[in-house]
Amino acid sequence: MAIEPESNRRVERLQTLREQSQLGGGQEKIDRQHSKGKLTARERLSLLFDDNTFTELDPFVTPRTNDFPLKDNRPSGDAVVTGYGRIRNRLTFAYAQDFTIMGGSVSEAVGSKICKVMDLALKTGAPIVGLNDSGGARIQEGVLSLAAYGDIFLRNTLSSGVIPQISIILGPSAGGAVYSPAITDFVFMVQGIGQMYITGPEVIKAVLGEEVTHEDLGGAATHAFKSGVAHFISETEEECFEHVRRLLSFLPQNNMEDSPFIGNVPDRADTDPNLSSIVPEEPNHSYDIRDVMVRVVDDNDLMEVHANYAPNIVVALSRIGGSTVGLVGNQPDHLAGVLDINASVKAARFVRFCDAFNIPIVTFVDVPGFLPGTDQEYGGIIRHGAKLLYAYAEATVPKVSLMIRKAYGGAYIVMGSKHLRGDINLAWPSAEIAVMGPEAAVNIIFRDKISKSVEPSKTKEELTQEYRDNFANPYVAASHGFLDEVIDPSETRSHLIRALEMLQNKRDSLPPKKHGNIPL
Ligand code: HXC
Repeated sequence: MAIEPESNRRVERLQTLREQSQLGGGQEKIDRQHSKGKLTARERLSLLFDDNTFTELDPFVTPRTNDFPLKDNRPSGDAVVTGYGRIRNRLTFAYAQDFTIMGGSVSEAVGSKICKVMDLALKTGAPIVGLNDSGGARIQEGVLSLAAYGDIFLRNTLSSGVIPQISIILGPSAGGAVYSPAITDFVFMVQGIGQMYITGPEVIKAVLGEEVTHEDLGGAATHAFKSGVAHFISETEEECFEHVRRLLSFLPQNNMEDSPFIGNVPDRADTDPNLSSIVPEEPNHSYDIRDVMVRVVDDNDLMEVHANYAPNIVVALSRIGGSTVGLVGNQPDHLAGVLDINASVKAARFVRFCDAFNIPIVTFVDVPGFLPGTDQEYGGIIRHGAKLLYAYAEATVPKVSLMIRKAYGGAYIVMGSKHLRGDINLAWPSAEIAVMGPEAAVNIIFRDKISKSVEPSKTKEELTQEYRDNFANPYVAASHGFLDEVIDPSETRSHLIRALEMLQNKRDSLPPKKHGNIPL
């Protein structure tokens, strides 16, 4: 009988070890994961990445603790799968917590595996995606697992604004563990399986006596509609991974690069007559700002961010003339497009993201002002509204604004005006740029005459119309050069393409400083 060469036996051993590692916590645990309607870490990664491009790292890392009761429990790879591959043919790093091994809990070894890919992503200037499905800190490892979380949070913070960081919540994410996703740029959640909270329902019941289900407390809908923690939600994991892949296609690999150019050289004479009839004749009638946005971007294609949160402002990624742009638009269809706390914070974060990653910002303005009321004042609309102002003022990327209808008061200044270093400000003839709306202005300026019923030489309606003609139009602002051009709505796309093309090599900077002090 021929003796098998040593080299073959070594390769066989490697195969066996690999196969063991690939099974994670074993078939029984995999079946349990599937029975909960969840995919395994490796199934997830194979759907997220382009076919056969994922390269796994550290499959033989094992838990390090020698303490009871983990002494003899040394699953190969521990509770996370890490590595790199290609998404739409661009380098991307990822880690996927493996719930089949000790509930995906974060041990010292898990932490060091995650940190290794985070470091590689930062060094190579490529995005990183974290797939979260974990029972949190590995209880048996105590402070070592807390240290691991600290190491991850630090890297999330240092990578912020350097490489895009994306979190996907595909299982539990509880306690301090939520803060890694919270620091990343975008959080995706899948309905029914992803849950995030600082303290679970049991603790809430014990401390406050409140009863709440896991899903109501921290499910995808809660975070997409109420808290704003989730930027995107999906019904299935497959759909979620497709959205992540699409999002990444809009983004540059890092803060030193531009987004990929996708498409053909644009037609600079593009017109769309439908744009002229979107804004209703009646100033108080609403319309959907997305109807304007889709008509001016490439292929009518928008990827709305935070679609369900603070719908009175719309933020979206898209392309104009082949290059990625960030769109921000007041939404007259919801609360008349007023700026409130949530809308200010939502848009401020988006503007800062775009600025960090060299994505020009196009702003669509139709805003009656900031929302009045005790709720807003007590909630801190002053400091939250200031965030949006700060974000626009600080941003050095190309900034183009289009005044569509109302641009009143402080909200006019905030929404990318010239006064905050807006580069090109355009207006439709329907724009009303003024301190406030005509009715409110007439009520104040002519208060005496109106309240004392002194017979006015003109009716209130006539005064309102006079104010509208004199002030609530784009031409006063244009006469001061605060608008660069008043344009025919049908030619909007062509104007945006030209402005963005002109601004392509824009360079602007901030005074030297460690960092500013945005009103948090
Ligand atoms: C070690 C854990 C674990 C953990 C789960 N497991 N969480 N092992 N440390 N944190 C193990 C379980 O013992 C079980 O092992 C396996 O994972 C699957 O867990 P199940 O309970 O069977 O699953 P399920 O019913 O789906 O419940 C999932 C769960 C629950 C809701 C996550 O396991 C749970 O409540 N775990 C504890 C969560 C927690 O309190 N974590 C600490 C949070 S504080 P076997 O061997 O039976 O398969 C924290 C601080 C972070 O994380 C601080 C950062 C700054």
